[in-house]
Amino acid sequence: MKILYAPDYESLSRKAAMLIGAQILQKPCSVLGLATGSTPIGAYRYLSQWHAAGDLDFSQARSINLDEYCGLPDSHPQSYHYFMRQHLFDHVNFAASDLPEGCAEDLQAECRRYEQIISAYGPIDLQLLGIGHNGHIGFNEPSDHFVAQTHLVRLKEQTIQANARFFDDPGQVPRQAITMGIAAILQAKKVLLLAGEGKEEILRQALTGPITPQVPASILQLHPDVTVVTTAKEMSCSR
Ligand code: GLP
Repeated sequence: MKILYAPDYESLSRKAAMLIGAQILQKPCSVLGLATGSTPIGAYRYLSQWHAAGDLDFSQARSINLDEYCGLPDSHPQSYHYFMRQHLFDHVNFAASDLPEGCAEDLQAECRRYEQIISAYGPIDLQLLGIGHNGHIGFNEPSDHFVAQTHLVRLKEQTIQANARFFDDPGQVPRQAITMGIAAILQAKKVLLLAGEGKEEILRQALTGPITPQVPASILQLHPDVTVVTTAKEMSCSR
């Protein structure tokens, strides 16, 4: 595991974008696993700028997102479809991009459809991840077991509260989501985990504590090629 220290959010964002950009330069037909949340926004901004400057071409690449809320239409500003268009897809030129459909009539069938997409185009070359305050990756919430496949998840109260800041009314935060499972994340050839301010303690637990489904990100200790970019200085020299 490589742990890169970034003194501030801009530095974290640039380093993350450089690693993603390098992936596209080295393998233009990469499959990128993409994440939402506030942490990757800066990296997406750099990638958009470098594409506009002619330095990065995503036309042979495709993306597969980690997750989507249930019940929010794609046009809802807090849906992850909207987020991805706003921060990345409207500014770069992926050949194709997939996200789970959180408004599908049959959500279980949608989980199966998404799993087929992952099987058809995977394994993911580079999986970008943030980390929730409770250690979730994607929306793989703390649980008594890891869930391998794409699945429907009931969000934890802590996650609902953490994400309430994005909604006018906290009551509007969806209670359910569809998330890629742990298998596709572990099968990704490379993982890039971003952890900014406020994530120091959960990052320490995930990377140095026991591997447990109560801290889903701890499973990354088993992955052979993880790069962490973090503003947590103490982590950067711990391994
Ligand atoms: C959401 C997403 C995760 C993300 C997490 C952290 O719940 N489903 O993929 O990693 O939030 O978000 P933030 O980067 O805003 O702290």
